[in-house]
Amino acid sequence: MTAKPAVPARLRDILSLDDFEEAARRHLPRPVFAYLSGGVEDNTAREDNRAVFREWSFVPRVLKGVAKRAQATTLLGHEYAAPFGIAPIGVAALYAYRGDLVLATAARAANIPFAMSGSSLIRLEDVAAAAPDSWFQAYLTGDEARFVPLIERIAAAGYRTLVVTVDVPMAGNRENNVRAGFSTPLRPTLRLAWDGMVRPRWTVGTFMRTMLQHGMPHFENNFATRGAPILSPNVLRDYSDRGDLDWDHFSKIRAMWKGRVVVKGVLDSRDARIAVDRGADALIVSNHGGRQLDGSIAPLRVLPEIVAACPQVPVMIDSGIRRGTDILKALALGAKFVFLGRSFGYAASVGGEAGVLRAIDILRVEIDRDMAMMGINRLDELTPEMLRRIRP
Ligand code: GLV
Repeated sequence: MTAKPAVPARLRDILSLDDFEEAARRHLPRPVFAYLSGGVEDNTAREDNRAVFREWSFVPRVLKGVAKRAQATTLLGHEYAAPFGIAPIGVAALYAYRGDLVLATAARAANIPFAMSGSSLIRLEDVAAAAPDSWFQAYLTGDEARFVPLIERIAAAGYRTLVVTVDVPMAGNRENNVRAGFSTPLRPTLRLAWDGMVRPRWTVGTFMRTMLQHGMPHFENNFATRGAPILSPNVLRDYSDRGDLDWDHFSKIRAMWKGRVVVKGVLDSRDARIAVDRGADALIVSNHGGRQLDGSIAPLRVLPEIVAACPQVPVMIDSGIRRGTDILKALALGAKFVFLGRSFGYAASVGGEAGVLRAIDILRVEIDRDMAMMGINRLDELTPEMLRRIRP
């Protein structure tokens, strides 16, 4: 038996993914933590993403002989070690030193998928070189002169799985970010300097280290060419209006891209069907972690109808998942796979690659224990009959 690497001292008190959130709250400057943790407006969608998991209880089976438990899951032709992956999270290199690389290499070491966000500060080519199986999640406008070169660039870097996020026709109303002093690019204000001063480990270990070793971070991957610097006096957002993107653009992108296309951000089964009819290889049911339209339905609530409408493709889910039990509930309701964003972002901030590996291990161990207590050896034994809705 191979010994597990020792858990670094700083991570010893971390027992669950929620512990990473508390540790990240203490580690990150307030505006950066607000960006990662926040939702939009009244946080209604973000809160319901969590609450919905409590509406379901397990009805476990007993004495089934569960010594042969295995959670490896084949998705889009690859056998992953677990049924979960790392969702795209923007500006990872702002909250963790070389954040996208940390997430990508940890995912690679653990054999789980990682989708790199297009809203990122490290060149997509560098992530592909370090972790060639990474997926790339693009933010696309309907302007062909912009999206065609970007898609060509992503393909040339070697990515084979393209995630097209479809729930971002406009930036979400992130009032919480404004209140906490977060903007993209960040404005260099006295308040920001103070927020950094009271978080010296982040200021030295992430921000200053980045500036010294790599210079001012820029948005690297929204277009084929470099975007704005992260710290800039002129708040010139790099996120152009994406409201012009439509299904015909999607079909063009589908025709251009030789690899797999995953559509992320559908909540209506009619959109799910259109995506599949237009060539999507897989779907992620998502309300963007409650970060786009407040009051948008929690993905778990519509998962079964989307799975029923699209039996020919893997249907995945993100938003609100924090526990192995959440993952088992999603799989029992028809998800093939799940993704988590914030938790891995907190883990990367607090503990770098070791933190992300610890988060992955926590979830894997929870899933294994939960499988035993549910009376199953394989995840495809999970069915809706093993759940009861306990609250309407
Ligand atoms: C980026 O996708 C974000 O939700 O901030």
